[in-house]
This record gives sequence, C-alpha cells and structure tokens, in this order.
Amino acid sequence: MGRIISIVNQKGGVGKTTTAINLGAYLAEAGKFVLIVDLDPQANATSGLGIDHRNLEQGVYQAVLGTVRIREIVQPTAHETLRVAPSTTALAGLNIELVDMNRREYKLYDALLEIRNDYDYILIDCPPTLGLITLNGIVAADEVLIPVQAEYYALEGLGQLLETVHLVKERLRPELDVLGAVLTMYDGRTKLSDDVMQELYKYFPNNIFRSVIPRSVRLAEAPSFGRTIVMFDGSSKGARAYERLAQEILASEMQKLIV
Ligand SMILES: Nc1ncnc2c1ncn2[C@@H]1O[C@H](COP(=O)(O)OP(=O)(O)OP(=O)(O)O)[C@@H](O)[C@H]1O
Ligand SMILES: [Mg+2]
Repeated sequence: MGRIISIVNQKGGVGKTTTAINLGAYLAEAGKFVLIVDLDPQANATSGLGIDHRNLEQGVYQAVLGTVRIREIVQPTAHETLRVAPSTTALAGLNIELVDMNRREYKLYDALLEIRNDYDYILIDCPPTLGLITLNGIVAADEVLIPVQAEYYALEGLGQLLETVHLVKERLRPELDVLGAVLTMYDGRTKLSDDVMQELYKYFPNNIFRSVIPRSVRLAEAPSFGRTIVMFDGSSKGARAYERLAQEILASEMQKLIV
C-alpha cells in the first residue's frame, strides 16, 4: 500500500510547495509512482508542474466534494511516473462549504481511497492555514512532513501545528505519524544559531531530516518555467538536496518494512 505524506505548515512561504514538487520529482526519478495532490487554492504546485489551472474545469475541489472521481482529474507531468491532482480557484470556497457536511474532515481521505493503491507515494501540498482544508490534508495522510524555514521566527506556530496533528491522531486518525521536519532555505552565511537549532530539537527530538535544503535561486526560478528542479537544473545544490531528502524518505520506507 502506498504512503500518503501531507506537507504541512500554517506559516506561509516556508517551502511546502517547493518541497512537494521536488521531493515528488526525485521519488519519481527513483522509479516510484507519485501523485501530488494540490490542496491550495493558490495552485502553486499545479502551475509549478507546468499545468495552467485556469484552463481546467475540474480539480481537487470537485473530487473532495465527490462530484467527480479523483481518478478523472489526475493530470500527467513531464515526469513519466509523476502525476498531479490539480487545484483550481474553486477550491477557495471549500472551507466554507465543508462546514455543514457529514464526515467533513474525511472528505479527502474518502476521495483518495480508490486510488491510494495505484501510487507508491501521494504527497499532499497543504495551504498556509489550519482550517478545514488543511485538516482534510492531515486526516488523509499516514504521515506529516513539516518544512521549517531556517529563521528564528519560523519556529513560531510549530507548537500549535504539532498540537493539531496530535489532536487529529487522538480523535480522527490514530495511524497518523509525524515523519519529520525539514529545514528549508538554509543560508550558510546567516548560520542558524545554536539556540534556534536547540529549539527545533525540542519540537523534533529525533526526526529532523539530515538533508537540509539550501537557499537556491534555481529552486525559486524553476516553477516559473513549469519545471521541477530535476529538469530545470539537476546539478544545482538545491536539486542535490532534494535528491538526498528523497533518498532519506526511501530509506525510511525500508525501515518500515523491517519493523
Ligand atoms: N530553498 C529555496 N531557496 C530559494 N527560494 C526558495 C526555496 N524554497 C522555496 N523558495 C521560494 O520561496 C517562496 C515560497 O516557497 P513555497 O511556495 O514553496 O512555500 P509555501 O510554504 O508553499 O508557500 P505558501 O504558504 O504560500 O503555500 C517561493 O517563491 C519559492 O520559489
Ligand atoms: Mg504552497
């Protein structure tokens, strides 16, 4: 059965989408079948993968509401084994529409049931809020991956995020795990001081990924060409960092098999 990993942080601009796209691309390069679910009305993952969401009539919005099957909205990308369930602007209304619905926290979980065995990895790119859409993104996942921007203020809100994940595990999805935190936009010149790192270890005592994503202009440029970093500049330092992150996640898959 495939692994469903939700990429979550209610803080904006910390590298969620960049991580979803490029981690997904390297998992696909390693021969895995990967689906990226774009759960953000901004549709950055969709456009970053080269799809013009303005031309789409249907996307994750319809799939979550159950008016179309998720299979029918999945789009191919330039990577043979990487697909995307695209976002459309309609998704912006979903938070409000979900409020009165039955099983409102499980809508994405339910929608993914029929395809979860078709993929080795499903990566969910969440929006920068902790509203009902993101709650759906967490409930649908087996594990959450938390990108943390390498800046002191970026640690604010981590307690609230982990508390939310904890509550979801307790009340809605007992199987849920925290896969770990990945440091993004790391700049060696503005070294994260020891106390910031210590602070991060308080939240994640044994699951900060060894792969640290450096600040890299190439990573920021790639989406405007609708390309992943694999295709845009596979030898850049940002590319190599995401490749290593993918390797770490693949290695954790092996560990799960052994345990
Ligand atoms: N490692 C990096 N180096 C340089 N720029 C980066 C890096 N990672 C992300 N960026 C840029 O920083 C901005 C925010 O990144 P991204 O969109 O991935 O964050 P996000 O958490 O998904 O944002 P949002 O909360 O709005 O969804 C983007 O312009 C992106 O290109
Ligand atoms: Mg994003």
